[in-house]
Amino acid sequence: MKRRAAITGVQGYVPDDILSNKDLEKMVDTNDEWITSRTGIKERRILKTPGMTASDMGKIMVEGLLEKTGTHPDEVELVICATITGDLVFPDTANTICDKVGIRNAFGFDIHAACSGFLFGLNVGSKFIETGYKKVIVVGMDKMSSIIDYTDRTTCVIFGDGGGAVMLEPNEEGNGIIDAVLHGDGGGRHFLHMKAGGSALPASQETIDKRLHYVYQEGKTVFKQAVKGMVSTVQDVMSRNGLSSADLDWVVPHQANMRIITTVAEDLGVPLDKVMINIQKYGNTTSGTLPLCLWEWEDKLSKGDNLVLTAFGGGFTWGATLLKWAYNAK
Ligand code: COA
Repeated sequence: MKRRAAITGVQGYVPDDILSNKDLEKMVDTNDEWITSRTGIKERRILKTPGMTASDMGKIMVEGLLEKTGTHPDEVELVICATITGDLVFPDTANTICDKVGIRNAFGFDIHAACSGFLFGLNVGSKFIETGYKKVIVVGMDKMSSIIDYTDRTTCVIFGDGGGAVMLEPNEEGNGIIDAVLHGDGGGRHFLHMKAGGSALPASQETIDKRLHYVYQEGKTVFKQAVKGMVSTVQDVMSRNGLSSADLDWVVPHQANMRIITTVAEDLGVPLDKVMINIQKYGNTTSGTLPLCLWEWEDKLSKGDNLVLTAFGGGFTWGATLLKWAYNAK
């Protein structure tokens, strides 16, 4: 049987501090009714602990994952961290996580594919497993509160902090990652980006005064493309593997907007009770949404379940991955 990369454990983390719609009503001109009906979000988590960084969230996720899977840090060979809010522009946060956890025999790097970051990271990690690696960790997390303008009501209601990490190991029983359809379109960069802080516009007094170090989004365009991209890639990956929506046990969609999730489910013909949804509690944690869903649903998943993970994000980047779940949670 073909050697596949299977997820053998998942560990999520969200900070304790809750930012509710009621809290936001006191900060910007918005209200609970608007946020709930337009996005499905009721609250999100914010990392407020002084000095705590994205890599500290990653450390908690990875330490929990190692414990859960009975893995010694020396056994880990590769750590991929999907994030757009790493501790520093460089070096990559994956390396900082390894240092903080005590992973000494691995190499690591970050993937900056915004909301598709975890999906892309999962597929890159799976290729290493398929070609001989035995233990690869993929982290997906973001500290979005560090790049959100809490005076901009169009973005500050959507995003939150958190994420998760998964262990990938070889599987020769037919379970694991089966196939993926991944896409990118750089033309989409105009609709979702951060204007300053990169080499195009390094930080200056002017970029700070103009509030250019925050997420900029043209929501309507992103919304339409997200629905289109997620539906078409799920359909593509299913049809080239001879599956129909009736064969799916779970759809794991990126949590950007409840209306995007329900439209995608409807277009795919999948009932909502087969769709993982936790956006009401966490909002959009960017690279964190997919592992956060897997973590919350882990106990409900059975060995052999067909899952499709799908995401859309800044870039534009998007795609879908088909996998067979490899274990029953203890
Ligand atoms: N509270 C109250 N009113 C708000 C508001 C808020 N938080 N945010 C925007 N509005 C207002 C707008 O100013 C606008 O007012 P106007 O009609 O007087 O101009 C009105 O609500 C409608 O705004 P619009 O942007 O058309 O709303 P929308 O239904 O498209 O919802 C988003 C906005 C951002 C929630 C939605 O477009 C979205 O979710 N887009 C995709 C986001 C996404 O997927 N991002 C991540 C990519 S991974």
